[in-house]
Amino acid sequence: MIKKLYFALIAVGISFSSCFYDSEEDLYPSGECNTLNVSFANDVQPILIVNCLSCHNAILSEGTVNLDGHAFVLKYANSGQLVGSITHSSGYQNMPQSAPKLEPCKIAKIESWVQAGSPNN
Ligand code: HEC
Repeated sequence: MIKKLYFALIAVGISFSSCFYDSEEDLYPSGECNTLNVSFANDVQPILIVNCLSCHNAILSEGTVNLDGHAFVLKYANSGQLVGSITHSSGYQNMPQSAPKLEPCKIAKIESWVQAGSPNN
C-alpha cells in the first residue's frame, strides 16, 4: 500500500514538474494555429517531408504511395486518403505508421489545405 502511494506521488511529481518546465511559449510558438491560406510549399510539404517521406518517396513507396511532390499528394488529397490516414479515420491506415499521430495544428493545416482544393501554392 505504502509502495503504491509512493509510486503515485512520484508520478504526480513528474507530471507537475514537466508542466512547470514547459513554458507556454515553447509549446505554442506562434500562440495559435494559423490555418488560413495554407501553402503547399511552406506548410504542407515540410510536414510531409519530416513525417511521411521516409516511407513514401519515389524510390520507397510503401503501399505504393509516393508523396514526393504536389502532383502525387494531390491524388491522395482528392481520394480522401491523406486526411483519412492522418486523422486516423476508420477505413484508412493510420499514418504516420508506427509513430504518434501528427500534432493537431499540423492536421488542421493539412485539412484546411485540402478543403481549399489542395492548391499548388
Ligand atoms: C514507417 C513508414 C511509414 C510512414 C512514416 C508513413 N507511412 Fe503511410 N504507409 C506506410 C505503409 C507500409 C502503407 C501501406 C499500408 C497497407 O496498405 O497496409 C502506408 C499507406 C499510406 C496511405 C494509403 C492509406 C490508405 O488507407 O489507403 C496513405 C494515404 C499514407 N500512407 C499516407 C501517409 C502520410 C500522410 C504519412 C505522414 C503523415 C505517412 N503515410 C507516413 C508506411 C508509412
